Amino acid sequence: MRKNIILSGLILVVIAGCSPTNKQSQDESDIQKIIGQMTLDEKIEMIGGVNDFFIKGNKRLGLPEVKMSDATVGVRDGNPAIAYPATIAYAASWDTALINKVGEAIASEAKSKKISIMLGPGMNIHRAPMCGRNFEYLGEDPFLAGKMATAFIKGMQNKGVVATAKHYAANNQDFSRHLVSSDMDERTLHEIYLPAFKASVQEGNVGAVMSAYNPVNGVYSSQNEYLLTEVLKKEWGFDGFVMSDWVSTYDGVGCAKAGLDIEMPSGAHMNKDSLLPALNDGRLTEEMIDDKIRRILRIYKRFGMFDQTAYFAGNNFDTASARKIALDVARGATTLLRNQDNFLPLKKETIKTIAVIGPNGHPAVTGGGGSSFVTAYQQTSFYEAIKKLAGDQVAVNYERGTKLPRFIEPALYKNSSFYYFQGNEKIVGLKGEYFKNKDLEGAPFTTRTDVMVNFDKPGDVPPGLGIENISARWTGLMKVEKTGTYDFTISGDDGFRLWVNKKQVIDQWYDQPEMFKTVAVDLQKGQDNEIVLEYYQGGGGAAIRLGYELSNTNKNDAIERAVALAAKSDLVVLCVGFDYKTESEGFDRPFNLPEEQELLINLILKANKNVSVLLSSGGNVEMQGWLTQTKALLHTWYPGQEGAVAVAEILFGDVNPSGKLPVSFEKRWEDNATYSSYFDDDKDKRVNYSEGIFVGYRHFDKNNTEPQFPFGFGLSYTTFSYENLKLSNEQINAEDGLTVTFTVKNDGTRDGAEISQLYVSDRESSVPRPVKELKSFNKTFLKAGETKEITMKINKDAFSFYDVATKKWIVEPGDFEILIGSSSRDIRLKAQVKVIE
Ligand code: BGC
Repeated sequence: MRKNIILSGLILVVIAGCSPTNKQSQDESDIQKIIGQMTLDEKIEMIGGVNDFFIKGNKRLGLPEVKMSDATVGVRDGNPAIAYPATIAYAASWDTALINKVGEAIASEAKSKKISIMLGPGMNIHRAPMCGRNFEYLGEDPFLAGKMATAFIKGMQNKGVVATAKHYAANNQDFSRHLVSSDMDERTLHEIYLPAFKASVQEGNVGAVMSAYNPVNGVYSSQNEYLLTEVLKKEWGFDGFVMSDWVSTYDGVGCAKAGLDIEMPSGAHMNKDSLLPALNDGRLTEEMIDDKIRRILRIYKRFGMFDQTAYFAGNNFDTASARKIALDVARGATTLLRNQDNFLPLKKETIKTIAVIGPNGHPAVTGGGGSSFVTAYQQTSFYEAIKKLAGDQVAVNYERGTKLPRFIEPALYKNSSFYYFQGNEKIVGLKGEYFKNKDLEGAPFTTRTDVMVNFDKPGDVPPGLGIENISARWTGLMKVEKTGTYDFTISGDDGFRLWVNKKQVIDQWYDQPEMFKTVAVDLQKGQDNEIVLEYYQGGGGAAIRLGYELSNTNKNDAIERAVALAAKSDLVVLCVGFDYKTESEGFDRPFNLPEEQELLINLILKANKNVSVLLSSGGNVEMQGWLTQTKALLHTWYPGQEGAVAVAEILFGDVNPSGKLPVSFEKRWEDNATYSSYFDDDKDKRVNYSEGIFVGYRHFDKNNTEPQFPFGFGLSYTTFSYENLKLSNEQINAEDGLTVTFTVKNDGTRDGAEISQLYVSDRESSVPRPVKELKSFNKTFLKAGETKEITMKINKDAFSFYDVATKKWIVEPGDFEILIGSSSRDIRLKAQVKVIE
């Protein structure tokens, strides 16, 4: 067995050991002065007195009111904003310089909206394709996730806006996210689930961290002393503040003691009633509370927030350049997974008719659902972008192919006749009464008319109401033009119930992620039908939608029309995937495509031989039934408001695709590392991460399972060759760095960008290690025929693993292989290096 070399000291020594600058010492003493002037009540109000998205200010002490907002794909403050591609697309771009610019641009927009803290990026590791929030995260590899998170954080914080690394830690599924504990061994936690957070702290110098909803190893993240204090603050030297995720606290004293600094979105638990007795009887000390205030004020100081005028002055948010960045991300992230016989790019000259088909084709699907969703200033659908770029000589037509989910079809409302009477006046719409409590109690906070009930964004509800602990009642009448059976569908998070003509037909009056429920009701032509819909929202995501339609309308027509269009067109661009209602925070989604999309794909493939599929989702879907019959497959992730333009440019060859997968795509769900460990099958509210460190490509490598598309894979319209691998040394000691150089040549006739990947393989180890692990990468643009030398530097971290006995990262001396690949399964160059003591 090898002898260990311990990487002693770690960063704690570096941070604690480096002497503070004069400015830092001055800042700390200014902060101490403010703390000295604060009463205990004021201190407690600050850490638990957050008002939704605001940390309260204090005029007497000169403390500003500080506004926060979600986050990583744009500013979500209830107003329209630039909608960038989904966070997973950032990882698929592998372009740290570009993602740095995204961070800067979002920060500028935030500042222009008087926001100082952004609640992202999310960086939870992808275990299974079902996780409803994969699209908000950075893929399966801790190194890649750490680098992309850091790039984003640095950009954002360079522009003076605080970034928040979330959700700390191991929030890797969204089913039962408040309840199910993520259980794993210490090595797995440190090697897979913590490194992106560690990089955010130590490389990104992130200002804030958000704890997760889930317990980790049985202890809620918001009161997990090991995670918050031992690891984050002590071991990594984090000096900013930790906030809880929204409504994820259970014990104020427990949270305060464990190291939580701010409770969000209000002091439900960290308040005077719970903390004062604990301060009196010694369970807490005032120094513990002071430390929380110090952490918050330290961030105010560091970012210059005390002087709000100066802080917000000179911000030059520019919509045009932000739109260009959003477009560039989609250009660089869209991943070409299949291109049979070089079917793409399309040659306009030879095409007369294009059929754009599928639910994701039009209108635009910019992002997944939940707290990250941004209402775009403007957006373009795939259909619109393809039509525009195809030019006048090509006829581009669209068919949806599946019927719209009933509850979101605005036409249903427009053509319907919801109305109510105010005195003698007939008002179109439903009367909406809104309450600032969950039980429709007391007088309404406000009353207004709602033409439709289709709410899932804070801006949808009346101003000042908030989006938690609220309820609403809609009442009115409706008429139908045809006697028959009607399907009423409601989708809601949390509780909802519906009465039609005084009969209760739906009763879902309990906490739940967004669920939908359809009920059939017979209605007579011309009759006034009385409608009462009640809704409440406790915590977490908020959504309520109501729709109705004649049973069995449209269904087959929609597919038939699409098939007919496909049959008479030269080629089909088939746009499938999920959207903000079907893939979202708050619940998990299936591995299979939703609605009737698989049926649609199969029928379209029969009708036309030239089908390119555009897949929009946070990750992989079941594709065995159709993949090999397609000509091309482009993964568009969620492309944001400009993304359709980028995808059209790629289809027609104006842009050469260069995204690569930040996630392994399995052939079958059974092939995934977490197949038997993802769900809480025994319902004991614990998920045991029994696959350990072997998640994603680490699992496929270990078991020699062929993925459908491997981690790091993505095609280009050109090809690249690799040569001349050189290492700076054949032998290094653990403290030395290693410089790796090689050349990449663009062998084709088109310009393009290549993402080269460096993996380290430990040939022999005292513990089981992955066959290889990503330790560096580089994205380089090469003109046709051009050769470039790529240099990558790695250090001891690249060879180390987490040693449970010493609780440290260690390097064992011995032989390691340096693998240079175009993907994790396409290794082009290899060399050996010996690490000596
Ligand atoms: C989400 C967080 C988000 C917060 C505020 C929570 O439901 O989990 O990611 O930042 O809401 O919107």
